[in-house]
This record gives sequence, C-alpha cells and structure tokens, in this order.
Amino acid sequence: MKLPTTYAVLLACLSACLFAVTATGCNPAPPATPAAAEATAPPVHIVPLPQSVDVQSGELQVSGAVALEAPEAAPNARRALEELLSTLGLAQDASAAIRIRLQLVDDAALPDEGYRLRVGEGIVLVARTDAGLLHAVQSLRQLLPAQAQPQYRLPRVAITDAPAYSWRGSSVDVARSFLPVEYLEKHIDRMAFFKLNRLHLHLTDDQGWRIEIKRYPKLVEIGGASAVKGGRSGWYTQEELKHLVAYAQARGVTLVPEIDMPGHVQAMLASYNELACDDEDNLSTYDGLEVGFSVLCLSKPDVVYPFVRNVLEEVLAIFPSQEIHIGGDEIKDPLYADFVARTAAMVREMGRTPIAWEEGSVADTGPDLMLQLWNEGYAIDAAVAKGHPLILSPCTYFYIDHGNYAGQPQTYDWCRKEGVPLQRVYSFDPARYPTAVGVEGALWSELVHADATADDRLWPRLAAVAEVAWTPADRRDYAGFVQRLGALRPHLDAMGVRYHPEPDLGWGNRDSGP
Ligand code: ACM
Repeated sequence: MKLPTTYAVLLACLSACLFAVTATGCNPAPPATPAAAEATAPPVHIVPLPQSVDVQSGELQVSGAVALEAPEAAPNARRALEELLSTLGLAQDASAAIRIRLQLVDDAALPDEGYRLRVGEGIVLVARTDAGLLHAVQSLRQLLPAQAQPQYRLPRVAITDAPAYSWRGSSVDVARSFLPVEYLEKHIDRMAFFKLNRLHLHLTDDQGWRIEIKRYPKLVEIGGASAVKGGRSGWYTQEELKHLVAYAQARGVTLVPEIDMPGHVQAMLASYNELACDDEDNLSTYDGLEVGFSVLCLSKPDVVYPFVRNVLEEVLAIFPSQEIHIGGDEIKDPLYADFVARTAAMVREMGRTPIAWEEGSVADTGPDLMLQLWNEGYAIDAAVAKGHPLILSPCTYFYIDHGNYAGQPQTYDWCRKEGVPLQRVYSFDPARYPTAVGVEGALWSELVHADATADDRLWPRLAAVAEVAWTPADRRDYAGFVQRLGALRPHLDAMGVRYHPEPDLGWGNRDSGP
C-alpha cells in the first residue's frame, strides 16, 4: 500500500487511537491489549518528515540480539547504530535471526545526505555516504522506543529520504554567556537526532572572547574572564575545540566558527588596546546589553589586518569547516565595506568560504560570500540577484532567545512582541529566497545564562527548524508535525532535554516552565 506520507502517518495514528485511548488523545504508545498488538502496526513518527514513507502491513519483532553488517567506510553510522543497540539492550550476534545491514551504494539517485530505510524480514539502511547512513540510523532510532524493553515492534516500512536544504543550523551565542563543552556535546547529540548539521558558534562579542588564540593570550585572559551581567565567563582551549570538532563530525555535524568583526569587539579591544583608535578612551571589558558601540580601528590597517589574519589562521587550523563566519553585523564605519571585502578575501585565500551577516552585502566581493539574513525587511534582493548564497535566520521566525510565547520571562521581544512560538517557526518557507542554502535557529545569550534556560529556548523549537530545512513546505503541515514530535517526547526525556513544556504538543501549560 503506497500512501502519501501525511495520510500514512494519520492512518497509523488513527488506527492506534482506535485501540489506545489515552489522556492525551491520539498517542503513539503501544496498544493496550494483546489483541490490539496483533491488529495494529506501530505508528511511524519521524521528525523531520521524510520524503516518502511507504507503510506496509505487518510488523517486525526484535528481541535479544541482532546480526549487524556494516562497511568499513561508514564508521560513524556504525558507531551510532551500535550505540542505539546498546541503549536498547540488544546484543550483537552474527547468528541472530534478525539482520541489520548498513550499505553504502554508488547510486546517483541518492543525494549526498539521502538514504533509504527498509524494515521487512530484517532492516536495511542504504546511502551513498556515511552522513546519509547516519540519518538513516536516526530515523530507525525514531521508529524505536527511547528506553530498553523486552521486545521491540517495528512497522514494516520503506522510507526514501533526503533533505531539501544542505544548511540545517543551530547557532549558539557562547560569547555573552559561556556554555560548557559538556553542554555543547549534548547539544550536538540532540541536533543529530533531528538531522541538523551545522552548529554555528558565536565565539566572540563585546561581552566575551571564548576561543584560545595562542599568539594573543590576553584575548582569553581578559576577554575570556568577561561575560554579560549575570552570565557565565569562560573560554575553550584549542584542544577542547578540536575535541568538539571531532565529536560533532562523528555525528554528522559541522562546527562553524564566528569571529564577529569589525564591530561587537569590546572584549578584543579590552584585551589588546592597540586595536582601538588612539582617541578611544573606553577600553574596559563590558557586561551590558547595548550593541553597535565598539569597532576595530579600521584607519590603522597595519595593526588591524595582521591581527585579523593571525587570529583567522589559528581559527582555521582548529575548524575544518569549509565555511567561516566573519560577523559584520551592526556597525557603522566609513571603512566597513572595505573591511568585509578584505577579510572575506583573506578567508578565501586560505581556501575557505566566508560568511557575513546580511550587512556584509554592501561589500564589493564575489558572489561566493555567503550572507546570513537576520531581518526579513533587509534589502537583500540585489545580493540574491548577484547569486550570494543565503542562510536564513530572520529574527521574527528564528531568534529563539525570543519567547516560546508572548511575555515569557527572561526573553527578548525587540524583534517580535508576540515572541517566536513553535508554530511561527514552523510556518517559514525558505523557498521565498531563490539562493537559500538553508535555515538556522539563533540562540543569543544576553538573557540565557544557564543550561536549563538554553534547553527551554532551544527545544522544541529547533525540531521545527530541522523540519523547515529538511522537508519542502508543500509537504509539511503543523498538525502532522505536532503529532509526530509529540510522540518523540520520551526520546527528548531520555536525552535529558529540559524543553519548554509546549502546550501545542500536550507537554504542559505555560505555568509549568522554568
Ligand atoms: C544580529 O542579531 N546582530 C546578527
């Protein structure tokens, strides 16, 4: 039976509901009675929604042990699958009746990150790349419960899948308030679960400098000790960042560093006063909330550009990401456009692709400069016409330091008074921008000072970011998303996520949050 995905999911849900009426309505929990267990296949609830889900009749039962086959060339997918089996208490045994096969194929019909997943007599996961197989493993994980059980029931299903957009991002501002390495590791795991693949680290800003630069140790001695009032100071050693890069790579996530320049640099100026103009008398560290007041002294190119180059050389030696973010937001300076053009050229000479915030579009650069849009109303059309690739983070949809609902305590509302609720995030269509490479949810940290607060702002909204980036708008609908994501709550619980208790998902009410 071949059904369009939405109908297949709805049917699975409806049939489950016929047998399992629970307090929260249509719930994907296993049917309540043995008779029902025979009559219904377990529902399929995958986020982001796959390209096609062909639910067949019957189910596959798994218990005890499975036989695993995996090619050498897919070490990350193999590790992810082994971790899944271990979480579920399933042993590996080459003679087990149920076989799980990871297969790399040279099939031009499969995009880089695409995959096929078939549950029949056994389980077969097919892709062209390790990254594609990693996504297949995550889909398999979502077909299974979050915790170990004596027996597992999987729907017989054939899934074919690939992302609409290659950039499916989360950015975190560790500059205003620091996030520990352990938190970032957990964040990467959670991103991977939803097939998000870019973690953009906003490493520097007025309030703090978080990346060790060996040539300029005062950047962390002074800038690393500073933070926004009430926030956390701290910095990452180069070793810690290299560890994070490898940790993320193994999970299909690329870390994208941002060194924000030529504005948002008070921590830099406080560390190395010579980067400021000679008449600048404010050279202290800063813990306030203002923006747009600090700037590198661009009329001292002999001081500024060697510094920028030396910093970028160390940054690039840590981060293999093809794309490197040079900031470029919220500063007025007569030499601004020249700075963006020169710094973008520097990144390009080093073999990488520069990214700047939307304002960088005024610089005279080649169209390879990627631009990150953060204001829907910004005049970006000329840059699009020139061919600049766009990362889409318009603040009314994707600034998730804004409230999960209007008036949520400890949230900003300067961009949108009503906050940025889950449904709002979900409603965005990247196809409005012909050169879009994807979307990114941005967590700024002026008001986010603790891990639990970060969790509350990031989740569940990043799951909506993931689906906006993965699934074309004409195949998405909020009701289906809510049903599927609602069902994945035990997985988020198992990952220890302290998500916002989103009423749309039946996860709580507005008073039950932090
Ligand atoms: C920004 O919000 N200044 C990128």
